[in-house]
Amino acid sequence: MNITVSKSKGLTGSVVIPPDKSISHRSAMFSALTGGVCEVRNFSTGADCISTLNIIKTLGCDVEFLAEKHIRIDSRNAFKKGRYKLDCGNSGTSMRLFSGILASREIESTLFGDESLSKRPMKRVILPLELMGAKFKHNDYKAPLIIQGAELFPIDYKTPIASAQVKSCILLAGLNTIGETKVTEPYVSRDHTERMLKYLDADIVTENNVTKIKKSKLTPKNITVCGDISSAAFFMVAAAIVPDSDIVIKNVGLNQTRTGIIDVMQQMGADIQILDKRTECNEETGDLRIRTSNLKAVNIEGSIIPRLIDELPVIAVLASQASGTTVVKDAQDLRNKESDRIKCLVSELQKIGVQIEETPDGFIIEGKTNLKGDAEVECYHDHRLAMSLYVAGLICNKPVCIKEFQWVDISFPEFLQLIESLA
Ligand code: S3P
Repeated sequence: MNITVSKSKGLTGSVVIPPDKSISHRSAMFSALTGGVCEVRNFSTGADCISTLNIIKTLGCDVEFLAEKHIRIDSRNAFKKGRYKLDCGNSGTSMRLFSGILASREIESTLFGDESLSKRPMKRVILPLELMGAKFKHNDYKAPLIIQGAELFPIDYKTPIASAQVKSCILLAGLNTIGETKVTEPYVSRDHTERMLKYLDADIVTENNVTKIKKSKLTPKNITVCGDISSAAFFMVAAAIVPDSDIVIKNVGLNQTRTGIIDVMQQMGADIQILDKRTECNEETGDLRIRTSNLKAVNIEGSIIPRLIDELPVIAVLASQASGTTVVKDAQDLRNKESDRIKCLVSELQKIGVQIEETPDGFIIEGKTNLKGDAEVECYHDHRLAMSLYVAGLICNKPVCIKEFQWVDISFPEFLQLIESLA
């Protein structure tokens, strides 16, 4: 589906942001590990989380939708011995987290995915799991991954990159391994796994960038998922750069390991207010008010990168409207996402007039630029590129055509409807 975006006259009103993708994946996976019955409210119906749901079904869970986004997971008959073929679709989180879950259970499984997922690096999870004694078959560390589950032994592992998927994979293997498994990261990455496992009574302790877990039985409990700050980011940036905007985004997850976008926007001078902060299921949430702002350039590097890694494409659009030079460094892992997010972002933003230059580990943007638009752009099968280009289109002088926009369904099927509701 190709769509055309035209210049906006201002965004006003309020939106409820869709469920967090990372937390939704974990809610389904961990419910499946309880061996009991759990209800999850506000579960993401993006294609990635539906892949996770289909996997737990194949593994023997009974999954019922009680209402839209409200599911009941009965895992009393799950994880029986056998051979399973598990389709992760486009979802790196499903493939990497299930690797840890499955490697430590006595079953044989094959994890496979779509073309993009089959090219993404899996060595980062296979190596530590093999150190724990896991048995993998793979083609140069790429999917499909064949896992012969086994009893594992604990490790003390230092991850070379700050990655929540790698950390979570090892912790989930450790959850079913006698002894203490320890993971140390160079910087703290998102900690939803640790928070939810603790909520479900696992023996897990975190201090700064070190997490330790012991074999634990999880207690079945109900989970409510908060809104996704990574989805909110497109609205936050749009409201800050489109003239005459003033919006409220409701129920946004405000976990500190995810709020790098708020810190950067405030540093750039954006008018953001946090309203009504609260805690639910061990996660902070709140509402955000954002108004059109005068922005200045910043440097983005080091420990903040994992706190805003998924927001960098839309931050590039924001930086095009900030006066001065914005430099993003230490973000080389962007090249391993659903697309090479550095190369693809730079080439498409250049087409509409953004002054952006590629570097090995990020990009440099000169602002503030009056964007011409008047171009046809590609999203490279990448949902976050598609939505970032849409936001850029809202401030271009002439319309922008975005090809294959349906890729937004991976995380945010309601995107168009919600953003149009603010116009
Ligand atoms: C995720 C972790 C991040 C993020 C991805 C979701 C997660 O990936 O980019 O969208 O749910 O754990 P990395 O762990 O590869 O940085």
